[in-house]
Amino acid sequence: MSTSGTFYITTPIYYVNDVPHIGHAYTTVAADVLARYWRLRGREVFFLTGLDEHGQKVQQAAAKAGIDPQMHCDKLAPQFENLWRKLNISNDAFIRTTDAQHKNVVQRYLQELFDKQLIYKADYSGWYCTFDERFWTEKDVADSVCPDCKRPVEKLSEHNYFFKMGQYQDQLIDHIKKHDRFIRPESRRNEVLGFLQTQKLSDLSISRPKSRLSWGIELPFDTDYVTYVWFDALVNYVSALEYLPREKSVGHDFWPANVHLVGKDILTTHAVYWSTMLMALNLPLPETIFAHGWWTVDGEKMSKSRGNVVDPNKMADEFGVDAFRYFLLREVPFGQDGDFSQAAMVTSINGDLANGIGNLLSRTLTMIERFTDRTIPASGPPALPELEEKIARAATQLPATLEHGFNALAFRDNLQAIGELVSLCDEYIDKAAPWKLAKNPGDAPKLKTVLNHSAQALRLLAVSLHPFMPQTMEQLARQLGYRVDFSKTLPASAYEWDSPVADLPIAKGTPLFPRIEIAASDTVGIDLKENAKIEKKESSKQGAKPVSDTLATPEPTPAAATQTSTPTAQATPAAAPAPVSPLQISIDDFMKVQLKAAKILSAERVPKSEKLIKLQVSLGTEQRQIVAGIGKKYDPDALVGKTIVIVANLKPAKLMGIESQGMVLAAGDTDVRGLLTIQEEVDPGTKVK
Ligand code: MSP
Repeated sequence: MSTSGTFYITTPIYYVNDVPHIGHAYTTVAADVLARYWRLRGREVFFLTGLDEHGQKVQQAAAKAGIDPQMHCDKLAPQFENLWRKLNISNDAFIRTTDAQHKNVVQRYLQELFDKQLIYKADYSGWYCTFDERFWTEKDVADSVCPDCKRPVEKLSEHNYFFKMGQYQDQLIDHIKKHDRFIRPESRRNEVLGFLQTQKLSDLSISRPKSRLSWGIELPFDTDYVTYVWFDALVNYVSALEYLPREKSVGHDFWPANVHLVGKDILTTHAVYWSTMLMALNLPLPETIFAHGWWTVDGEKMSKSRGNVVDPNKMADEFGVDAFRYFLLREVPFGQDGDFSQAAMVTSINGDLANGIGNLLSRTLTMIERFTDRTIPASGPPALPELEEKIARAATQLPATLEHGFNALAFRDNLQAIGELVSLCDEYIDKAAPWKLAKNPGDAPKLKTVLNHSAQALRLLAVSLHPFMPQTMEQLARQLGYRVDFSKTLPASAYEWDSPVADLPIAKGTPLFPRIEIAASDTVGIDLKENAKIEKKESSKQGAKPVSDTLATPEPTPAAATQTSTPTAQATPAAAPAPVSPLQISIDDFMKVQLKAAKILSAERVPKSEKLIKLQVSLGTEQRQIVAGIGKKYDPDALVGKTIVIVANLKPAKLMGIESQGMVLAAGDTDVRGLLTIQEEVDPGTKVK
């Protein structure tokens, strides 16, 4: 992928059969990050998203709602558009396949292929899946169910129009082989290639008789038919360029697209149907079709019937737009499946964002406020040469790493590289201990170096993270006094480590990422959705990392001193106890809670969680599995054999997809300080009161 010229990126156009969910948000946020990155780097970007409004699914949804399909689409379209505004999606155009101009282009292409005799009429008899809107052959179908969605299929026999897709098989194989980047990731490329090399590619039915489906674009050469929804939908990527370009992009030739982002379930329609359609139309093929993975929710498939569909609006409202955007791209490597849970999101927000970049800004600005006239000082002599060199090296390499990552759509790798720079800066501040340097006038030049380096790194971090979290990074830049126009191409110097920050007037503001406090359940691992009360607190009050606390206490207290020596470990300040609830309960209420002694039989960490440990405990007559948030304090091995106290009659709940059948009692607020254990020999299952 080049770093100059145009960049055309698309998302799938989403069916308007229901409101948007996390899957829609995922692709669209990923596309937005790429679009924003390349705009900042100076490429002329065209970012397209939109809606797929025809076909059986939409017709059925409208019928269910008892309204006309167009009215149904008009009612649902704003739900998508509003979500994109909320999530700060910077699309340049929004296409709806019911747009008259789009319909014209589809009809023009149909006519062209018909005239070239690449579309013919034939009898067809096969198994039809209404849900997937496609025919299957006899050998595909076992037990009258669709091999794809497992819903019942029906035997249909009808005249239809076919696109001669089969004749492009060899040309397509050849194209895939010659263009490494055409289908991504590699595993998906191999899948498609494997299929094309072992099975005969059949022709594609591109019509539906109006007697069966009327909600579609009429075939220009036979008014008894509408076109298959995929023939209509895929054309959007080209038709949009005819009538939707922004003013400034008129005159740019955006086709072929650089990236079609799609989910893994719709790779075949893009890699095979769309590619062969383009070949037949003599249009160049896109540079890359990238298929991302799917989200499960708490370990389960997301579905309406399960009632676990994740609403992106809610996530953005509860956790913040940028934190949600960050989480989507940080949690799993792009291309692989991932599991969504609110617990994982809280861990990511509190860890990477509140304690990470948010706190780095807060502690840096606090020091600049305190030790200077609120301007970033020029660098003095080295304070910690080794670490300073390490930071300079990491920062200098970062832009190239990011470019490489964005070319490969490796969002997570990029966020990891950025996170490493944050950690290095934290280590630097902890070790350089500016609050100590400030006490000795002789160390004043070194103090300036530390402040300068920290601010410098933050400036580069704002630039690097901006595509992921535009609003917050603009806030960061403002607080740092760094004037930069993120709506324009950034100057090359913005990516340079040595770009001067000295003399910038800082303006410390509110914390970038308020920490999310989960009442009780966070420490013991019960279901966040049902039981947790999520409160946002100002991270400055939580004293995330030590500098600002230490600054507030001229002579560090032993507690603060301990924190200073283990800088990244804990987030709870010694001096900020949680408010005590004035709510009193009766003894009867208390007696409803069944507390029991339980013996820990085994313990293991929950993968990808810093905090969670999965315990198997014995209650004498039964064994239970409990997921507890005690992993920061305890090693699993140290827990086996202990007799602890659990709440035995708590409704089972899932944490990161793992069932927890009870709750462990522990002392501590946000962080566990100690597990309640029974020293004496008592039988597991003994009541505790
Ligand atoms: N209308 C077609 C696309 C036509 S493009 C020319 C369509 N629409 S869809 O609304 O059903 O799906 C849109 C996208 O959402 C797909 O890329 C699909 O992979 C994605 N997802 C649906 N559920 C998902 C998850 N659980 N997780 C991640 N993405 C998921 O298909």
